[in-house]
Amino acid sequence: MYQLGGFSIINAWTFFNKRYEFLWSNFNKTGQDLFSFKVLQHKVVAMSGEASRITFFNEKDLDFSQGYRLLMGGLGDIKVENEDAGPAMFNKRLLKIFRRDRLQHVMPTLLSDINKRMDAWGMEGKMNPFKNIYDIVIQLTVRIASCEELADDPRSVEKMSDLYWRLEKSATAVGLLLPWFPGTAKKDKKQASEGLYGLLSYYVDARRKAEVPSSDAIDELIADGADNAIIVEFVLNVIFAGVVNTGMICCWTLLYLSANKEWKGKAMAEVKSLLAAHTTMTSSEPMHQRLSRIPFSAWEDEMPVVESIIRETLRLVKNDTALRRNLADNLQVSGKTIDKGAFMAYNMADVHLNELFYSEPLKFDPDRFTAPREEDKRGNIAFLGWGAGRHPCTGMKFAKLEIKMILALVLSRYEYKLVDTSGKPPKQLPQPNRNDIHQARPMGEPCFLRYRKIVD
Ligand code: HEM
Repeated sequence: MYQLGGFSIINAWTFFNKRYEFLWSNFNKTGQDLFSFKVLQHKVVAMSGEASRITFFNEKDLDFSQGYRLLMGGLGDIKVENEDAGPAMFNKRLLKIFRRDRLQHVMPTLLSDINKRMDAWGMEGKMNPFKNIYDIVIQLTVRIASCEELADDPRSVEKMSDLYWRLEKSATAVGLLLPWFPGTAKKDKKQASEGLYGLLSYYVDARRKAEVPSSDAIDELIADGADNAIIVEFVLNVIFAGVVNTGMICCWTLLYLSANKEWKGKAMAEVKSLLAAHTTMTSSEPMHQRLSRIPFSAWEDEMPVVESIIRETLRLVKNDTALRRNLADNLQVSGKTIDKGAFMAYNMADVHLNELFYSEPLKFDPDRFTAPREEDKRGNIAFLGWGAGRHPCTGMKFAKLEIKMILALVLSRYEYKLVDTSGKPPKQLPQPNRNDIHQARPMGEPCFLRYRKIVD
C-alpha cells in the first residue's frame, strides 16, 4: 500500500485541521485509491473507489465506535465493549425513543418549542442560521432525549448548549496530538464534560424522585432499570449524534432555497397543500398549531419535494469522513492488505461529488433523484447521506421530522432572503467549507438570513 511521505506529525495535523483538503490533495497527487499515513503510532488508511466503499460499509469486522475514537484521543488497544453501554445497546434505546407513536405524541410540543424560539426573533431582522437554527435543533434534541423539566427551562437548555459546543470543539489537533500540552482544549474538555454530567444528573435524580412517571425518555430509561450513569451518557450521546448534522442540513436547506426561487416555490406549495389536506384553511390558529394537526405519517409520506430538497442538500453538504477500525486478520481491498488494528477513513465526496454518478455535481438540482434520472441509483452505494450497509443512521426519522417542521414554519410564516454582513445580497451563493468538520459553515464571508414575519 502506498505510504505518504513527509513528516508524520504534519500529515496527522493536516488530517485533523483540513481533513477534506488533506485527503483529496493526496488522492489526486498519488493517483492511488488507497494510501496510508500515521496518527501518533497508529496507521490510518484513506480509501476511495467502489471496492473500498463496499468493504468499508459492509464488512462485519470493521468497528464503528472505535473508528470514531480516533478523533477523541481514545487511541489505545482494541477494546471489547461493555454490553450495557456499548453502541448496540445505545441504538436499541434510541430506536425506542424514536418510535412512531412517541414522535406522533411529541410533535405538538416540538412545534411549540420551534414557535417559542422563532417568536424571540421578533417581527423582522437578520439572523445567523448557524446560531439561531442550531439553537432550535438543540432545544428539540433536549426535548426528545431528556425530560420536560429540563426542556422547559430555557436557562438550563442554554447552559447545556454552551457546554455541548465547548466539548464538541475541544477535540482539537493540539489536544489529540500533543496531549501533554497545557492548552485550553484539555481544560475545556474536562470542565465541559463535568458540567454536562452534573447538570443532567440533577434532572435524572429529580425524575427518580417524581411521584408520577411520565413518558419522557429519562423516565422510560428509569423504568427499564438503567442507572444514572447510563441515562446521562444516553442523553449526551443523542445530543452528540444528533445536533451537528441536523443543524447543518437545516441551515443549508434554507440557504439553498433562498437562492433557488423555483424550489422554494415548490416547497411552499407542498406545505400549503399539506395544510389544506389535513387542517381547516379558515382556521385562525397560529401556524405552529395548525401544523401540529398534520399526522406524522403525512410528514413522512406526503412531502416528496422537501424529501428531494433534503437529499440534494445532504449530497452537497454531507461530505465528511466516515471512520472505522479494522478488527479482521487478513482484510484485502483492491489487492492491498489492511493491517489488523488500522483505522480506515472514507470521505463521502468520493460518491456525492463524483461526476460518474451525479451530473454537474456542484449544482443544486433536487430533480436528479426523481425518475427517470435517479442519479443516486447509478452506482453501488452512490448515496451516503444517511449512511449505508451495517450502520445506517438510527436518527433519520427524527432528523427528517425536525428539518421538515423547521422548514414548514419558516416557509409558511416568513419572507426571507440571503444577505451578507453589510445586509446586501451576496454576489454568489456561499459554498460549504468542507474542512469545517463541525458545521460545514459557508466559506469566506459569513452569511445571514434577513426575514420578515408575514403570518402568525
Ligand atoms: C440530518 C441529520 C443526520 C444525518 C445527515 C445523519 C447521518 C448519519 C450517517 C451518514 C451515519 C453513518 C455514519 C458512518 O457510516 O460512519 C449516521 C449514523 C448514525 N446516526 Fe445519524 N444523522 C443525522 C441525524 C441523527 C440523529 C438526530 C441521531 C440521533 C440522535 C442520529 C444517530 C445516529 C447513530 C446512533 C448512528 C450510528 C448507527 C450505528 O451505530 O450503526 N443521527 N448518521
